[in-house]
Amino acid sequence: MHSTFIHLLSSIVLATGLHQVQAATYTQSTSYIGNDFLSGDFNFFTATDPTAGRVTYVDQATATASNLTFATDDVFVLRADDTTVLTASDPGRNSVRLESVLTFGSPSAMVLDIAHMPEGCGTWPALWTYGPNWPATGEIDIMEGIPFSGVNNQNNNQGTLHTGPSCTMPASRDQTGTVLNDDCAAADDGNDGCGVEFAANTFGPSFNAAGGGWFGMERTSTFISIWFWPRGSTTVPAGVSEGSTEVITDNWGTPVAYFPNTDCDIASEFEAHNFVINLTFCGDWAGITSVWDLACAASTGVSDCNDYVNANPSAFSNAYFEINSVRIYE
Ligand SMILES: *[C@@H]1O[C@H](CO)[C@@H](O)[C@H](O)[C@H]1NC(C)=O
Ligand SMILES: *[C@@H]1O[C@H](CO)[C@@H](O)[C@H](O)[C@H]1NC(C)=O
Repeated sequence: MHSTFIHLLSSIVLATGLHQVQAATYTQSTSYIGNDFLSGDFNFFTATDPTAGRVTYVDQATATASNLTFATDDVFVLRADDTTVLTASDPGRNSVRLESVLTFGSPSAMVLDIAHMPEGCGTWPALWTYGPNWPATGEIDIMEGIPFSGVNNQNNNQGTLHTGPSCTMPASRDQTGTVLNDDCAAADDGNDGCGVEFAANTFGPSFNAAGGGWFGMERTSTFISIWFWPRGSTTVPAGVSEGSTEVITDNWGTPVAYFPNTDCDIASEFEAHNFVINLTFCGDWAGITSVWDLACAASTGVSDCNDYVNANPSAFSNAYFEINSVRIYE
């Protein structure tokens, strides 16, 4: 981890007639690459899954011993156990949830360089940020979904905010993604949050087949935005693929998900957040009977998500993150 904590948010006013262009330049304050993830910069969360998943989150010693976490200087791998057959009385399949020790507030930006993400029926991975007293200080889901393979593959990422009461998003806004829900309040709509669906190949098996890509996130006191650029794309903005020490978010183009403060006091709903990597199974999303029936019942021949996760360890050999870097810009 490199911490320079340079705060640089410069406003460049271009005097082009009546137009004023605000250019936000951010400087890298922290980067997590390879062994950084296992060197004390992240805590291993070992409490019971708050979303009722069929998972046991293990500590660092267990993760290391069973190779559920693995790092070199250049790459970090986080996976679930893919060898153990579980009985119904076992608490759940071993997996890992990491939370950054440092917190990041507004204004800041993040670039996540992801080579592979967990896939398979029953998996529910996420890359996200949240603060204390959830949901009062907000949650930003940068990459999340249930990437089952087989029929009805989920190949579309979802970017979502979860907040305290009184935060909604305008139905029409300057973004390329598709609105799934406008109400961000965790107390409403079964905690669906205000999700935005990304284009195809931003998630799951087809994301992996393409070699992954980069997610960008920017948060300020007036908006939160999320972007995605696929590996090899000619549209990756300067600085993003190179892991530059500076990024200029105004050069990132129209975001896939844009959450403005029109009907949501972004400044008070979102405080400084920890960054989280988690991989659970079934639970409050992937395990819902109607979701499982649509996604995986036919292709697996198993009628219940927990039963499938218990009995089929080898189905989870692709349930791993391979992360090239996570960079924070402030
Ligand atoms: C995993 O991540 C999601 C982020 O959307 C969060 O809501 C959920 O509580 C987390 N689940 C587990 C099992 O850690
Ligand atoms: C641990 O996992 C890494 C990444 O998947 C793999 O390259 C390595 O061979 C594994 N080590 C062992 C001992 O299985």
